[in-house]
Amino acid sequence: MSASFSAQGDVAVITLENPPVNGLGFETRCGIVEGLQRAIDDAAIRAIVLVGSGKGFSGGADIREFNTPKALQEPSLHTVIRDIESCAKPVVAAVHGLAMGGGLELALGCHYRVASAGAQIALPEVKLGILPGAGGTQRLPRMIGLQRALDMIVHGAPVKSEKLSSTRLFDRMIDGELLAGAIAFAQQIADVRPLPKVRDHEISDADAAEILQSMRDSIQAQARFFPALARCVDAVEAAVKLPFEQGLAFEREQFLYLVQTTESKALRHAFFAERSASKIPGIGPDIALRPIRSAAVIGAGTMGGGIAMNFANAGIPVCMLETAQAALDKGVATIRKNYENTLKKGRLTQEQLDKRMSLISTTLEYAALGQADIVIEAVYEEISVKEKVFQQLDAVMKPGAILASNTSTLDLDKIASFTSRPQDVIGTHFFSPANVMKLLEVVRGKATAPDVLATVMALAKTINKTGVVSGVCDGFIGNRMIEQYVRQAFFLLEEGCLPAQVDGAIERFGFAMGPFRMSDLAGNDIGWQIRKRRRTEHPDMIYSLVGDKLCELGRYGQKTSAGWYDYHAGDRTAHPSDVVNQMILDHAATLGLQRRQISDAEIVERLMYALVNEGAKILEEGIALRASDIDLVYLTGYGFPLYRGGPMFYASGVGLNKVLEAINGYASGPNAHAWQVAPLLQKLAAEGKAFQ
Ligand code: 3HC
Repeated sequence: MSASFSAQGDVAVITLENPPVNGLGFETRCGIVEGLQRAIDDAAIRAIVLVGSGKGFSGGADIREFNTPKALQEPSLHTVIRDIESCAKPVVAAVHGLAMGGGLELALGCHYRVASAGAQIALPEVKLGILPGAGGTQRLPRMIGLQRALDMIVHGAPVKSEKLSSTRLFDRMIDGELLAGAIAFAQQIADVRPLPKVRDHEISDADAAEILQSMRDSIQAQARFFPALARCVDAVEAAVKLPFEQGLAFEREQFLYLVQTTESKALRHAFFAERSASKIPGIGPDIALRPIRSAAVIGAGTMGGGIAMNFANAGIPVCMLETAQAALDKGVATIRKNYENTLKKGRLTQEQLDKRMSLISTTLEYAALGQADIVIEAVYEEISVKEKVFQQLDAVMKPGAILASNTSTLDLDKIASFTSRPQDVIGTHFFSPANVMKLLEVVRGKATAPDVLATVMALAKTINKTGVVSGVCDGFIGNRMIEQYVRQAFFLLEEGCLPAQVDGAIERFGFAMGPFRMSDLAGNDIGWQIRKRRRTEHPDMIYSLVGDKLCELGRYGQKTSAGWYDYHAGDRTAHPSDVVNQMILDHAATLGLQRRQISDAEIVERLMYALVNEGAKILEEGIALRASDIDLVYLTGYGFPLYRGGPMFYASGVGLNKVLEAINGYASGPNAHAWQVAPLLQKLAAEGKAFQ
């Protein structure tokens, strides 16, 4: 039983005890109902307090139970709430820490609610692609007003309990010890009859129609991909228009529909993927972390500056090193400009800006960095340059300092070998712009010490990044996969597509940017350099020459106002380029290829399955710890559509046998050499399984 019962004089206390967040799983629901019955049966009990143990009241329904028989097993959350609401003795919810989703719905089913300040109050179901399914959409508007409730339901953002203290939601804010205050309150109201019920309140907003319409307008663009948004509004509208029980039934219908949508499954997958990523086999939660109180960054360019901002944002002093004062000045000026832009948008105060700038220092001397707890190099991507940097770091850094490389493709083990302390060397691959992008690939070398890995994963959280562990290989998880995706995109150009067609198909699939617009943004010359190196290191790897021809024209992307597309000065809009399109046709002609019409479906399949096939290899080789880590890399670093859950989740949804069948089909086409099917994909497809 995950709820306990105790009697404190004439007040029964039912305590939710299901760590870490008192999720309302089957056992907890049983525990509440049982406690309630004991309280009802005991003539000495006059009132009941429902309270959460540990860090909060309740984080809501147990998401892990969704789509399993346990979710519907009685007592359901609906039954629990109905039993509480119809209980003849008053039930008081005592809220601290958090009351989210079903947790808030449970509290709304109680006759009274008291709270401590600082509790996070939310109906975050929409973030999981569902809506509050235990009365939240019907009860919350009755307590805090339509506009506020609609905002909370459609956006899912938490609101601090004290901000709701002037609404009907809380009958009392408790200053001192919550349970003692709740018991005292329960004793005061024990004899008040009739018992108040949230359902009995009217929603009296005169401008309800406008409020609902304005919310519908604001979600229109997103609603196509996230069906829960519109259904949240529909359910709140039902609260306004229908009798309570009918509204409740309508909400339930929407919940049951949404919980089985692919979008909701994908969002829940992403939720758990994010939490699994920090779990590293063999490294327990009690490992001693190295303290990170100061940081250093080698390089003050776009990447180095962006990395430094992350530390300043988290309140950690950071020193940037460059070889010339002018480069340092430029780097600091860029950082200041970035912060000033955020200030202008109202997302930063002048005080915060000053504080962050004061945490950033600069130097031209390696010796000045020696006492930093972590140093991250973000210098030119060339092994001989890295060698010099790491030799100098080895000479000056204090014992135990973490030496990190921001390399995106180079061999981390080789980099570690440039030092006398490979156990302290790790990869921290940030994504550009480093102060914005959530992903941090944390590259574990063969000698990286477990506490170094654990420290950097914890640091990722501190600096608001999503850390994902990768083993050492060319390109790590993300870039190794994207290489196959871009390779396919180039082959499509040879076989019949133009850049805008490929980008259009991928953007309609849901990516923020197609491969060609992405390359123009990142710089086409970067891929060109990598291909040159790869052709020497892996002569068997065949790349289309179309990307090289583009670079030979000097079309490096947005930075040269010309790439796969044309760009006008001061404008990032991509305009299809006659020059490039002709170059593609000429190139295909030299290959003697008969160009053909290629459907959007084929474009999407070839690019997605190129990712998936390489992802399967990465999984099999142990470069990624789990398929969901690969998904997380793509969701947080590459603009993969969130509502599709990442490439591996997407492929599992399609069915791996179908994926394999399609790949086998492409493997008989003109670029068959690019499809070396991953043995893991073959194995799972044969067994009818999905990626785990
Ligand atoms: N169900 C199952 N597990 C949950 C959970 C839930 N509702 N909420 C959190 N957890 C688990 C996490 O998976 C994690 O497990 P792990 O330790 O095994 O990885 C653990 O609890 C701790 O979670 P966090 O690492 O996220 O801890 P934080 O302290 O950072 O955050 C939180 C706590 C704010 C509650 C955050 O976990 C969260 O946002 N949870 C989701 C809340 C939510 O969406 N509730 C609605 C559920 S749906 C619902 O109630 C339906 C109803 O309307 C019918």
